[in-house]
Amino acid sequence: MSERIEDIAKAMVAEGKGLLAADESTATIKKRFEAIDLESTETSRRDYREMLLRSEAAMKNCISGVILYEETLFQNAADGTPLAEVIRAAGAIPGIKVDTGAKPLALASGETVTEGLDGLAERLARYYAAGARFAKWRGVIAISDRLPTANAVKANAHALARYAALCQQAGIVPIVEPEVLMDGEPGTHDIDRSEAVTEQTLRVVFNELADAGIKLEGMILKPSMVIDGKKQRKASVAEVAERTVRVLKNTVPASVAGIAFLSGGQSAEEATAHLSAMNAGNSLPWALTFSYGRALQDDALKAWKGESGNVEAGQRAFAHRARMNSLAARGLWTAEQERTA
Ligand code: 13P
Repeated sequence: MSERIEDIAKAMVAEGKGLLAADESTATIKKRFEAIDLESTETSRRDYREMLLRSEAAMKNCISGVILYEETLFQNAADGTPLAEVIRAAGAIPGIKVDTGAKPLALASGETVTEGLDGLAERLARYYAAGARFAKWRGVIAISDRLPTANAVKANAHALARYAALCQQAGIVPIVEPEVLMDGEPGTHDIDRSEAVTEQTLRVVFNELADAGIKLEGMILKPSMVIDGKKQRKASVAEVAERTVRVLKNTVPASVAGIAFLSGGQSAEEATAHLSAMNAGNSLPWALTFSYGRALQDDALKAWKGESGNVEAGQRAFAHRARMNSLAARGLWTAEQERTA
């Protein structure tokens, strides 16, 4: 594997491949496991993630890289092989979530700024030594009639740029993730509001990245799609795709290595349909692919249920979603394939 960040970034968005976001914090994975009535322990978290990472065909054909939580990067599989090695053996790249979460923004009501810059240079050196070649930082942008404030957008964009600079200096590709919430509160915004806020957020983010001297060929953007709030979903697949592509064309420089979406609370099939519609028939300056968490994992988690006898069923469910999203990354997914596959 080449070690130039430009080449790593290119490999992350190789044709028909995307990223598996398996970087749930310990608090978040606990919530996911509660849904299948499973206690979250170091071993159950390891077993679950090992199941996904050992889905050989899916990993080889559809997954370019895996975003890990710090615990997983330093964890071994049941047979003692480091999980980062399992990922590399499947031809994928290990990555690491490095932010320490969205914290209340002082003097603001209901907005957050993502933290984790203190000591980040030292942490990145440790992660690099453990095999991580890309990182992720998620800024959260609340949306309502009055939010976000310019202050919250700027604070998050500035933090993203400082993080991205530290990554590139360490030889690590930054995934820059400014998420405009779809399923936050109140969740009643319409798609016009989503489009305006997403466009403004991306403008501010790319200004900050430029000021910080970020090499665009050596980064990946992980945006949310332009979509109406969870409590008022009515936009069609075509509308979400058209508006999202329009905003990206207006704001994302052509030299950015690639764009890999988050799923943000969309159902698995919605997230696939939207991605495919964006790629179908569009000639775009960057690769558009997936970096899904819930939309790739939900079915697998339900099939597995925390039981070793269900590992194959879990892997089958994961492989199916990975394949559907691989098709979507090429603009080739259809609802028909979903049912006959
Ligand atoms: P979802 O696809 O579940 O939104 O997760 C992606 C992610 O990495 C959020 O930071």
